[in-house]
Amino acid sequence: MPSPLHLGRSEFGHPDNKGRLLPISDALCLLTEWVPNERLRLHMRQVGAVMKAWALEKEGADEQTALKWELAGLLHDADWEKHPDSHCRVIIEKLEEMNIDPEVIHCIAAHGPRHFGVEPENAMDRMIYTFDELSGFIHAAALIRPSRYEGMDVKGILKKLKTPSFAAQVSRDDINDAISRIDHPLEEIIQFIIDHQKEVQ
Ligand SMILES: [Fe+2]
Repeated sequence: MPSPLHLGRSEFGHPDNKGRLLPISDALCLLTEWVPNERLRLHMRQVGAVMKAWALEKEGADEQTALKWELAGLLHDADWEKHPDSHCRVIIEKLEEMNIDPEVIHCIAAHGPRHFGVEPENAMDRMIYTFDELSGFIHAAALIRPSRYEGMDVKGILKKLKTPSFAAQVSRDDINDAISRIDHPLEEIIQFIIDHQKEVQ
């Protein structure tokens, strides 16, 4: 049975809006308005920061492209708190009304293929899917360490992933599926997240 969150479509936004992005400061204002929960806002800032860093460091992206990656990360769960039963649909429709770049909207729609029924099509889509669950998982691991991210290593995270009771809501199947779609090992992704989200406030 398809998930109740299935979007039932695969085209998002309008091609005429290619290149239409929001300044990060505007996206942060929208987040404050749409997401009262500070922990959830932090999750989105973390995914945004990791997406931007990956675009710049691993994809050779220019600043405009990196902004696109960052925006998708920043806004991907923007409707989750207020509209859990139509998560993704609401934020997608808002961004379509705002005439935002269709690639940003598609990326948000593709961040959970099992939930939303939209397959990741390009590197940006595949990386948001890869980072989303792992970013939250690594943050959960940081929160139970007295030194937080300081001294955190990949081995410890791999061990926790094999412990089903730790952050049980994080789908190991989704993580494995996401990793199977990219040409980078899980260890590299974990290290990248540790390195880049520790400074996100
Ligand atoms: Fe998320």
